[in-house]
Amino acid sequence: MSDEKVSIPAQSDGATTSEDTAVADGDILLKVTGLQKHFPIRKGLLQRQVGAVRAVDGIDFEVRKGETLGVVGESGCGKSTMGRLITRLLEPTAGKVEFEGTDITHLGVGGMRSMRRDMQMIFQDPYGSLNPRHTVGTIVGAPFKLQGVEPEGGIKKEVQRLLSVVGLNPEHYNRYPHEFSGGQRQRIGIARALALKPKLVVADEPVSALDVSIQAQVVNLLDDLQEELGLTYVIIAHDLSVVRHVSDRIAVMYLGKVVELADRDSLYKAPMHPYTKALMSAVPIPDPKRKNAKSERILLKGDVPSPISPPSGCRFHTRCWKATEICRTTEPALLELKPGQRVACHHPENFEDQAPQDTVLLSAAKEAAELVSDEVLAESAETSAAVAAELAEATSEDAASGETASGETASEETAAEETASEVASSEETAEASAEASDPDSQESTDK
Ligand SMILES: Nc1ncnc2c1ncn2[C@@H]1O[C@H](COP(=O)(O)OP(=O)(O)OP(=O)(O)O)[C@@H](O)[C@H]1O
Ligand code: SF4
Ligand SMILES: [Mg+2]
Repeated sequence: MSDEKVSIPAQSDGATTSEDTAVADGDILLKVTGLQKHFPIRKGLLQRQVGAVRAVDGIDFEVRKGETLGVVGESGCGKSTMGRLITRLLEPTAGKVEFEGTDITHLGVGGMRSMRRDMQMIFQDPYGSLNPRHTVGTIVGAPFKLQGVEPEGGIKKEVQRLLSVVGLNPEHYNRYPHEFSGGQRQRIGIARALALKPKLVVADEPVSALDVSIQAQVVNLLDDLQEELGLTYVIIAHDLSVVRHVSDRIAVMYLGKVVELADRDSLYKAPMHPYTKALMSAVPIPDPKRKNAKSERILLKGDVPSPISPPSGCRFHTRCWKATEICRTTEPALLELKPGQRVACHHPENFEDQAPQDTVLLSAAKEAAELVSDEVLAESAETSAAVAAELAEATSEDAASGETASGETASEETAAEETASEVASSEETAEASAEASDPDSQESTDK
């Protein structure tokens, strides 16, 4: 982009590399700790609370400056709720959201006003998210009015510039949303989100309502804008094929939890959570050479269970083909088992079994296994055994060379334990400060 005024201050080119796991605090734009959102269920005349939808149930992750974090999971896993929590369109029940080191968890409408400029959301539905009675000019110019900002050259000129940035004709300033196609409407939504030069853009299923032929155009537009404007993205999708090309890292959510968080390449090459593996195998394989790879497909049985009373232990145990007793009783902590790859599983794929003593499959696992081909089951057992053998070999070599292999293992375990207790204590602290209140009004959007 040539126009000087266009450029949003680039954020130090924070593109992450897959080996880059030790992240300095200064490189983190957004940090989420123990984040929860429980929607109360009320009944009766007195509207007494009889339960809660545990839409987001204690998640931790960070978004690095300049990166794209993809968030995937089946319908109802809490992705949209997470997106609304981090942009503070919803008030968390518990947990903490920090933006550039500032705790914004409980900022009120006034406090959030200045923050709104820095974080914007693009919504899934390009039809419902634009007010049909407003012209495109009014819609894209609304953030300036709400924030009391007068762009150089006036609002009209700036809106026209934004329209051309997203590939729309600036002359169409006075048209109404119904005069545009779905893809064009999504471009209008993107122009509106970019108006105030945000640092973080959360895009909730930005292309899933669009024709497949248009999806790539919008994804590419988002990609180009990121490069030009130094944006940081959180892109939510249920389809791994959408986030695959644009994400630096990917978080996989299941029933209100993050079950795996890894660099894109590690995740695709060697997924460690069985749910990730199942999601990946549900993605059509575009490579014609791999057409015959049908037998690798794992299909997930049934729907995601209700977040009102999620399964005990590992929430995936009712659908997982590897589930054993420990999965039913004990929730696995999200641990960094490989550099840059965090996973919450007792019996991870492509890694040493974390609970090798627990071998008897649950009956649900046997049923789920019927959907998994024998080759995949065999490969899964093989890779885990191979990793275990490799680790054992490395340990004995280290021991032979006089290094404190056992010490290293012990410190790794301590680190793992520390992480687990950190998670627990942050959740406790979060719970202590939990206070659900009405969601903020969505002031910067044009519903
Ligand atoms: N305002 C609300 N009140 C009560 N329950 C809600 C509310 N918003 C979401 N939920 C519930 O929270 C759970 C998570 O919903 P959410 O929309 O975050 O999931 P999602 O992963 O975005 O799903 P999808 O892929 O269908 O968009 C669902 O069970 C949903 O019904
Ligand atoms: S193996 Fe156990 S812990 Fe791992 S995903 Fe399956 S049920 Fe969950
Ligand atoms: Mg959603």
